[in-house]
Amino acid sequence: MKLKITVLLVVSIFLSAASFYDGPTSYRIEIPMAFPPMLHSETADLTEEGVLLGKTLFYDKILSVDSSLSCASCHKPEFAFADRGVALNKGVSGREVLRNTPPLFNLAWHRRFFWDGRSETLQQQAIEVVSSHEEMNLSWSEALNEITSQKRYRRLFAEAYPNQEVDSLLVADALAQFQLTLISADSKYDKVLRGEAEFTKEEFEGFIFVNDQGMGNCLHCHTTDAHALGTNGSFANNGIDQGFADDQGVYGITLDKKDEGKFKVPSLRNLLFTAPYMHDGRFETLEEVLDFYSEDVNAHPFIDHQMNYFLREEPVFSEREKEVMLAFLKTLNDSSFVSNPSFRP
Ligand code: HEC
Ligand code: HEC
Repeated sequence: MKLKITVLLVVSIFLSAASFYDGPTSYRIEIPMAFPPMLHSETADLTEEGVLLGKTLFYDKILSVDSSLSCASCHKPEFAFADRGVALNKGVSGREVLRNTPPLFNLAWHRRFFWDGRSETLQQQAIEVVSSHEEMNLSWSEALNEITSQKRYRRLFAEAYPNQEVDSLLVADALAQFQLTLISADSKYDKVLRGEAEFTKEEFEGFIFVNDQGMGNCLHCHTTDAHALGTNGSFANNGIDQGFADDQGVYGITLDKKDEGKFKVPSLRNLLFTAPYMHDGRFETLEEVLDFYSEDVNAHPFIDHQMNYFLREEPVFSEREKEVMLAFLKTLNDSSFVSNPSFRP
């Protein structure tokens, strides 16, 4: 009898010690209202510790060759992780990079990454950006030496990835974990969807206008009705140029001529924080963007057929129509996203 009790005691002490440490705590992403299912399966494996490590790396200049830049030097939280007012950021060499810095939010719903979609995952994207000459220009062996020489990082990695050797894949995974948590779903528009606010008359007219094929016709690419991302996640040639000598977009990756001038369809969310616009930041204001769609779309041979509507001789939009579209676009700005303290260091 006594022996049995002792055995039981020993077993239960052992079990409770084992359950005392059960590894990293999982981090769950709630899918906001009117958002489609997420596209990246790793969103199921996020952990509090992984997200914290990723955030620490994101804000640390340790990932650039001369410790002059962090991810956040270009992707600034106050500008929805883009850089307002800068068409082309400068990389470590001080030279301008080729393209406008895109904002970072709702990335779990992006099919591919970069303006030309050359990365299929956020992990791949991070591997490229750290070693890219134009951006951070750090070799991965140097990066790993720097990181593992710091006690703080050894601890953060051990907590996020117990018993795993620190390598570039883990660094990229942690960065991806943090970036997947950057969800913007609390604009006025989201509040209207949730029944917590109402559109003004102008905003509502703008909403209808943007999402009607016979009116603004933006919905085929920048969807804001059936789902709320502000983009359909595809790549399209919107007639921005007649030729694409400087930047051929997706064609530069696939070498399929039909992809010339195709760029990622950006979201219409948070435009207040992310000017200037387009892959090269050519338009400083939304008024200029709407003037482009109304009057300056180029009949490029591979222009998306949804753009035919915009290829008229006369202006496509009246001043009133532009006003209501602008009023609607403003409802997509999410100020709680850009001030969210949990996304800051
Ligand atoms: C010098 C400025 C700069 C720095 C530093 C920088 N980025 Fe970027 N980032 C850009 C630009 C410019 C692009 C678009 C490049 C392209 O499409 O070819 C981009 C694209 C991205 C994208 C793709 C977004 C999308 O919508 O497809 C992600 C994700 C990203 N960066 C994350 C990071 C991370 C993580 C770091 C740090 C490891 C980082 N960036 C450092 C400028 C920068
Ligand atoms: C055929 C698809 C398509 C249609 C239709 C379309 N767009 Fe776009 N839009 C794009 C693409 C692709 C880009 C990026 C092009 C580039 O960077 O060169 C873009 C860029 C933009 C941008 C810049 C966003 C940023 O972050 O840089 C805004 C704003 C915009 N579109 C608004 C509209 C509005 C408003 C309409 C309707 C009047 C519309 N678009 C119709 C595909 C489309």
